[in-house]
Amino acid sequence: MRRKVIAGNWKMNNNLPESQNLITKLISGLGNEKLNCEVIICPPFPSLSEAASLVKNTVVKLGAQNMYFEDSGAFTGEVSASMLKSVGCEYVILGHSERRTLFGENDQLINKKIKKALTSGLKPIFCVGETLQEREGNVTKNVIKRQITEGLKEISANDMDRIIIAYEPVWAIGTGKTATPEQAEEVHAFIRGLISSLYSQSVAESLVIQYGGSVKPDNAKELLSQKNIDGSLVGGACLKADSFISIIKAA
Ligand code: 13P
Repeated sequence: MRRKVIAGNWKMNNNLPESQNLITKLISGLGNEKLNCEVIICPPFPSLSEAASLVKNTVVKLGAQNMYFEDSGAFTGEVSASMLKSVGCEYVILGHSERRTLFGENDQLINKKIKKALTSGLKPIFCVGETLQEREGNVTKNVIKRQITEGLKEISANDMDRIIIAYEPVWAIGTGKTATPEQAEEVHAFIRGLISSLYSQSVAESLVIQYGGSVKPDNAKELLSQKNIDGSLVGGACLKADSFISIIKAA
């Protein structure tokens, strides 16, 4: 049985007081109940340090939304893996479609970031997904295959147990238009098959593959009940403690 992982990608939302408020609500709402899943929150950089102290000794783990692959130096505006580690991050989202489309990140850059995260002791949540045009052009699988093959280049089978892949169809992000459980399952199964051919069946079987794209309390359960869907990467619905908790409970 693979573990289920629910992660909240806050994106560019919540200043420091708002972050404190949301985390406090989340932690008290989750209470001491034993969960069947791992829970991760990914607030913006300025809130990470405070978030780390708030989630200490709770079930909630901390992730960042991006990082750069260099150790340090003249890279204005960027943050390093070691900076994220030092404030208490365990995870880092890499290759999100908003980074790819709005900030011009390509597969090669994402691959460098994934490698750096791994050597620095961070666990990447590596995002892949096709645009609407690509889906309608019937090239979804080619796109996913390219993103995964390039993104995971030179990454060993050993390191694969520290990577989560998040399948996020771009057309489903923030649009309210979720992939149907069948559409998502088809791509998740494809990704698992691809990992099996790139690595081995056992690496593929233990890989956590999250679905992201308009996951809400009312569709989470059905998505999460698919054989190859091992969790969700939640955007909008993680910004309210109640709805994020409902999704966590659905897992
Ligand atoms: P939404 O849940 O708002 O569609 O965002 C999904 C996402 O991009 C998570 O990384």
